[in-house]
Amino acid sequence: MSYAALKHAHMLFVVISLFLFIVRGILMMAESGMLQKKFFRVMPHIVDTLLLASAIALTFTINQYPFVQSWLTAKLIALLVYIGIGTVAIKRGKNKQVRTIAFFAAIVVFLYIAAVARTHNPLPFI
Ligand code: HEM
Repeated sequence: MSYAALKHAHMLFVVISLFLFIVRGILMMAESGMLQKKFFRVMPHIVDTLLLASAIALTFTINQYPFVQSWLTAKLIALLVYIGIGTVAIKRGKNKQVRTIAFFAAIVVFLYIAAVARTHNPLPFI
């Protein structure tokens, strides 16, 4: 697969992943039973796996790697933080207030990852 196609696939998975997370966050805040539907339990894992697979393929294509290039180290660590806070937001948070705070914190981390991606800088806002 060409570099351009791979990058577009990566960005498409980024958009779908964020969209599914926001929809699940809204269902969580609305205390909707829809959140338990198979689609919302399985689909995010499929999309996030594809997101990560495209990320790994991209690192090999441009020959830049986490723990070598600092912006990719930042992206990888921030992705793990996003996943961790994300699970607090969708299921692990002990009450709705904790889950809601975790939801918005996860969105902030996501925006940070996107800013690092665009600037190739682990401190994109400074
Ligand atoms: C939620 C997680 C992620 C988001 C939101 C995200 C976002 C993006 C975006 C928006 C781009 C396009 C940047 C541009 O060209 O303007 C990109 C490219 C890229 N991403 Fe990700 N990404 C994520 C996860 C990762 C991870 C975990 C890695 C690897 C550790 C990774 C590696 C790359 C690479 C190597 C490129 C190509 C950069 C270039 O060619 O300039 N991404 N990412």
